[in-house]
Amino acid sequence: MSVIKIITFTTMDYNQYKRASKLPDVKTTIFTTVGNLARKHAALDLSQGFPNFKADEKLISLVNDALINGHNQYAPMQGYFSLREIISEKIASLHQRTYSPADEVTITVGATQAIFTAITAFINKGDEVIIIKPAYDCYEPAITLNGGIPVYVQLDAPDYKIDWSAFENKITDKTKMVILNTPHNPTGTVLTKSDMEELERILKPTNIILLSDEVYEHITFDGQVHESASKFPDLASRSFVCASFGKTFHVTGWKIGYCVAPAELMAEFRKVHQFAVFCVDHPVQRAMADYLKHPSHYLDLNNFYQEKRDFFLNGLKSSKFKFKPSLGTYFQLLDYTNISKEEDEDISRRIIIENGLASIPISSFNVDNRNDFMLRFCFAKKKETLEKAVEILCKL
Ligand SMILES: Cc1ncc(COP(=O)(O)O)c(C=O)c1O
Repeated sequence: MSVIKIITFTTMDYNQYKRASKLPDVKTTIFTTVGNLARKHAALDLSQGFPNFKADEKLISLVNDALINGHNQYAPMQGYFSLREIISEKIASLHQRTYSPADEVTITVGATQAIFTAITAFINKGDEVIIIKPAYDCYEPAITLNGGIPVYVQLDAPDYKIDWSAFENKITDKTKMVILNTPHNPTGTVLTKSDMEELERILKPTNIILLSDEVYEHITFDGQVHESASKFPDLASRSFVCASFGKTFHVTGWKIGYCVAPAELMAEFRKVHQFAVFCVDHPVQRAMADYLKHPSHYLDLNNFYQEKRDFFLNGLKSSKFKFKPSLGTYFQLLDYTNISKEEDEDISRRIIIENGLASIPISSFNVDNRNDFMLRFCFAKKKETLEKAVEILCKL
């Protein structure tokens, strides 16, 4: 009779890896925590930043065509050339700057990969990276993993305006990069021409790289113009501009985006990109190249979302919430101080459990989790979802 030897892995000391974690401060994100609680209580979910309506059938059928027509093998490392070409034409027409499709445009796995790759390509141990807070959560871990040091400029509610002299004071001889996000998640603010000119003036005498996160470039309201870093010659000469088709075309799950930068910067970016992902989903790239031939597919987005924002805010007029209308993105901050003085995480949890509506407490985007008494609501939702949300919020 043979003896079966059972191998156990009891000698492995997993704690040593925990102790030596490269990201010791990274815990479960607020998005996961809130999302789980929302599901548990079957709450209406306005917390996560994605639409609950369908993408355009035309786009879906273009992907289908690409699959059927056999575009199922690796795409070129930099991205499908026709897609890079049409992106270059789009930027030239909107921002009057020409990026070479061959050397200055790269298709990425969403903006997240573009951001991670740009940081990895340039940030070394001890380099400082300025982040404007509140900030989206993917910047800091990428900086930390590469040995960089995040340096914060914290903005204040309710306007969240950048004080450019406070920003300038944060620049040292170790500053390697600045990360900017306009239109801004979570505040819904949009940087103006004069903001960008100030930034340009401050960065001009330096070698600092600008990482400009512009994933909500096509979602601005009330006639606001999106001021891309690519519009400003000196900024463009030092910038990675990152964009997301997921956000623009209601397909966040496809994880496809792109970034543009001058050839010298892009060459370093591609060295990392080549070994991190090599290339991005080929059939989706083919579909995007066709879909972008019609500028209305992205130019109509402002009106589409303005209607949703207006519907949401009109409904809230009789509520106790205070707000400044979002000027860009599909997020709206609501100040709840007329309702409660609780911590934002507490009231967010309570509204999920007691009232069945989920939102994001924005302390998680601030330095030291500062409480601004604000909750973030995503209005990229069907009209009936927004209607139900308004009904709940007006009863609080
Ligand atoms: C400001 C900001 N940047 C980047 C991203 C990530 O974009 P993608 O899904 O294309 O990776 C998001 C997604 O929520 C975002 O809000």
